[in-house]
Amino acid sequence: MMDNASQLLMRHLNRLRGLRLLVVNYPDGHLLRALYAQQPHAAVEAFTHDFAAHRRAQAAYQAGGLPGERLGFGAAIQPAGAPFDAVVLFLPKSRPLLAMTLAMTAPLLAQEGAFYLVGENKAGIRSAQALLAETIGPVKVLDTARHCALLHATRRIEAPPFDLERWVDTYTVEAGEHALTVISLPGVFSQGRLDEGTRLLLETLDAPPGPTVLDFGCGAGVIGAAVKRRWPQTTVTMTDANALALEAARRTWAANNLPPDPVVASDVFSHVDGRFAQIVSNPPFHSGVQTDNRVVTTFLQEAKAHLAPGGALRIVANRFLKYAPLMETHVGLCRVMAESPRYYVLESAVAEGSR
Ligand SMILES: C[S@@+](CC[C@H](N)C(=O)[O-])C[C@H]1O[C@@H](n2cnc3c(N)ncnc32)[C@H](O)[C@@H]1O
Repeated sequence: MMDNASQLLMRHLNRLRGLRLLVVNYPDGHLLRALYAQQPHAAVEAFTHDFAAHRRAQAAYQAGGLPGERLGFGAAIQPAGAPFDAVVLFLPKSRPLLAMTLAMTAPLLAQEGAFYLVGENKAGIRSAQALLAETIGPVKVLDTARHCALLHATRRIEAPPFDLERWVDTYTVEAGEHALTVISLPGVFSQGRLDEGTRLLLETLDAPPGPTVLDFGCGAGVIGAAVKRRWPQTTVTMTDANALALEAARRTWAANNLPPDPVVASDVFSHVDGRFAQIVSNPPFHSGVQTDNRVVTTFLQEAKAHLAPGGALRIVANRFLKYAPLMETHVGLCRVMAESPRYYVLESAVAEGSR
């Protein structure tokens, strides 16, 4: 079913007819398909930081027989069709990410072009008005419905070419006896500090039961980098659905002089190959501003297929999240490795000889 923000935009498709259009951080392919249906020959490009949304859009395009080459995924946009007549941006949940995405898209929009920002009230669409006005130009509220608002700004403000380096944030964390330099970017989990749950997981780290480790949902790459630092012979694959996380993780490794290991864009296990001696994770339990267990449920259900015999899955979770039964059902007997008032670290090992 179409999300609320896309439904609101659907009421305004006529405004976008025939325009060179850039759609950014869309949730899936629904709106894009509707745009194509309305104007099959118009230049519509789409871009997202979220590999899961990218795959959903690819699937929707494929089902409709549409050309997928205009669906971009990465840390920064590389559009073929700039300058655009209009940009549609779905409000991201993080304010720094909104600021960065506005800075990234503003120079791609023609002067006097139309910028549409759509999002849910609870995600802060109203308070985004000021930032939109500062970066793009005069703003008005075009429509409100389904707990969402659609804002329209006219581009009047000069925008310098986008430079990702300006958005990089660097901080240091103590991980065991080692200090790690962490490089982060807007929208990447745990900005500017080590997450308390991740810290608890790091405290439990012991030598992996084999030579390969998967850091699932790697964020800025802290867990994987801590493993690599302590056990340099291990090959640590890092995976995440967020392109900015993958970029941050690569940079974190470089900043700590760690030799590069694989960094893989994947929606849960969609693009992860092979079996690992250990999977370590602080898995996601949010989607936008909602608690959402779909990703973690799929992760726990499919983890065993990516573990070598005798391999182990170790995760940290908020104590209100009851993952142990899922881990026991889908991986193997579950043990509590560490606890704090808010978090616990759980481990399930695959029995030798089990498939
Ligand atoms: C709680 S954060 C942990 C980040 C990092 N490991 C740390 O501890 O600081 C969870 C991570 O899962 C990623 N994630 C969310 N949905 C995903 C999906 N469908 N597939 C893979 N990773 C996903 C998020 O982008 C986020 O980086």
